[in-house]
Amino acid sequence: MENRRFYITTPIYYPSDKLHIGHTYCTVATDAMARYKRLTGCEVMFLTGTDEHGQKIEDKAREVGVTPQQFVDSIVQGDRGILDLWKLMNISNDRFIRTTDDYHVSAIQKIFKKMHDNGDIYKGKYVGKYCKPCESFWTDSQLVDGKCPDCGREVQDAEEEAYFFKLSKYADKIQHLLEDTDFLEPRSRVNEMVNNFIKPGLEDLCVSRTSFTWGIPVDFDPGHVVYVWVDALSNYITALGYDNDRYDDYSKFWPADVHFVGKEIVRFHSIIWPAMLMSLGEPLPKKVFGHGWLLLDGGKMSKSKGNVVDPYILAEMFGVDALRFFLLRTFPFGSDGNFSNEALIQTINVDLANDLGNLLSRTVSMVGKYFGGQLPAEQAEDPDKDSELVDMVSSLRGRYEEQMEKFAFQNGLAEIFKVIDRANKYIDENAPWVLAKDMETNGPRLACVMYNLLEVLRVCAILLTPFIPTSAAEVLRQIGACEKCSTWESAGQWAVLPKTVAVVRGENLFPRIDADKALKELDEAAEAAKKAALPDLEIEPQLEEKVDFDTFCKSDFRAVKVKDCQPVKKSEKLLRFTLDDGTGTDRQILSGIAKWYKPEELIGKTLMAIVNLPPRKMMGQESCGMLISAVHTEKGEEQLNLLILDDKIPAGAKMC
Ligand code: MSP
Repeated sequence: MENRRFYITTPIYYPSDKLHIGHTYCTVATDAMARYKRLTGCEVMFLTGTDEHGQKIEDKAREVGVTPQQFVDSIVQGDRGILDLWKLMNISNDRFIRTTDDYHVSAIQKIFKKMHDNGDIYKGKYVGKYCKPCESFWTDSQLVDGKCPDCGREVQDAEEEAYFFKLSKYADKIQHLLEDTDFLEPRSRVNEMVNNFIKPGLEDLCVSRTSFTWGIPVDFDPGHVVYVWVDALSNYITALGYDNDRYDDYSKFWPADVHFVGKEIVRFHSIIWPAMLMSLGEPLPKKVFGHGWLLLDGGKMSKSKGNVVDPYILAEMFGVDALRFFLLRTFPFGSDGNFSNEALIQTINVDLANDLGNLLSRTVSMVGKYFGGQLPAEQAEDPDKDSELVDMVSSLRGRYEEQMEKFAFQNGLAEIFKVIDRANKYIDENAPWVLAKDMETNGPRLACVMYNLLEVLRVCAILLTPFIPTSAAEVLRQIGACEKCSTWESAGQWAVLPKTVAVVRGENLFPRIDADKALKELDEAAEAAKKAALPDLEIEPQLEEKVDFDTFCKSDFRAVKVKDCQPVKKSEKLLRFTLDDGTGTDRQILSGIAKWYKPEELIGKTLMAIVNLPPRKMMGQESCGMLISAVHTEKGEEQLNLLILDDKIPAGAKMC
């Protein structure tokens, strides 16, 4: 009998920054798979969560002056945080694990101890390289041009007392698992793993650190924290209740049916994770699927490149379903794909607005117009004209299922849209508006044409549910499909709607997008988001280099009174000051502050100037000294304030 349970996971996300559209990709795919499996009648466990330990988080928290726990809390639970994002994207996860959850922490300590006690974890000294952003250890031979082979960034020397996991012991078994079974897909990723990691010789893995504290303590050796990947990978079993009392589903759902993971973390999931499970004596997950990346202009999305795409902005502009649909319709799941706003708009306009949206609105409005919203029972079939469409729809579920079982979302959707396309042609072939001219003769035929179109919409909407849950439910509502007509079972059958079905007119599901306008708005929104992400206030760091007192005393700071202030011709920046410096002779200083001050507002003010700088010519005029001001950056813009002194300070007074 078919296994009616299905356990699927996403990687648990690092809450080190806000998530971007690339992160959303895997979670949306996992959600579509989980919904598909539920639709087919499986009992599904869909797990996602956050991976909250490690040096990177500790460093980031320090940078912003909060504790690591406060830092991760704000990114996970805060406004527009990870939980908000999954809610927005309509993600139907059954469980959410945080690796800082107590039950997980104590389970990891037990897992670590088990592997220690069975001799697979031993103490040694770690000498190698560490990539902080990736939280990965590398041996010299694994580096590419001396840099991290995953992200290409600089690595650091690392040497410390550490525990090691006997990964080498499992090399043969892992090689067999990868080469001789379907454990890892797509197949292309197998060669990469075997050639790059196993054949050069699997080395034991450093699994504890002592140089930072934000991790799960090794309870039998204080000072050591568990390597973040050992902590993170185990989430897939602790979230089911392995070695803890918080949950009790381990025997029900383990082994997982599939771990969906991005291609750069396939190594951890297809080598380290199975080895850990072998050491623990637990069954291995049935499959690891390494999906491709969403790229931007052919390159990686990253905060440092400033090119990350905000899923909130896209979902707000185009709708959650449209965004979910685009991600899975456009890119083959196993390969990389280039994300662009143009492609997003194009997919929405072609597939959703033109093809699906039009089919729905034309059909529902014709049933309204020609039959007052409810079809008559008398309907005339015409096999010559109907059978191709009917056959296509009747066999659609099978073709779709075949693709979905392979995680080929794009192909599954392509099957649906072939049918939608065919149905739009069917309207033109049968020209309902011509039939409607003579309802007495053609009424039954017209009713049958309408019925067939409603059936197409019914089956397609059921199969689209995993991708666009809200819109698919709305399609089913508008075509009058009851619950029984909306099941997986019924998606494999033709003529399930009652003949006298009544439609419900509703909103246009997918309005056409004006591409030029939308692209402009997106640019503006991205610009505004970039600005909003800038720190409110940026103060230049203090200089490390010391200046001796005698050198300092050589600078002659004086109070000066502004007798006159004028703009300098042909200069947008400069103001020319005539100053009383207490000597009896006027002093002229030019200052580049026109952006912040109007000349007239400064007349009469007492300012601070350094008066023993050598004279300098600017725009052909001499400047003897410099006015002192305070500068800082606010929301990315430089701000300047002159030091304006108390008026009772006389001109010429020395500042010291
Ligand atoms: N914390 C680890 C996973 C631990 S699983 C036991 C991690 N977190 S992550 O937040 O950096 O990445 C989470 C997932 O997002 C990874 O699978 C990664 O491949 C995926 N993506 C990040 N950027 C991506 C794209 N631009 N495109 C597609 N997926 C990408 O790794």
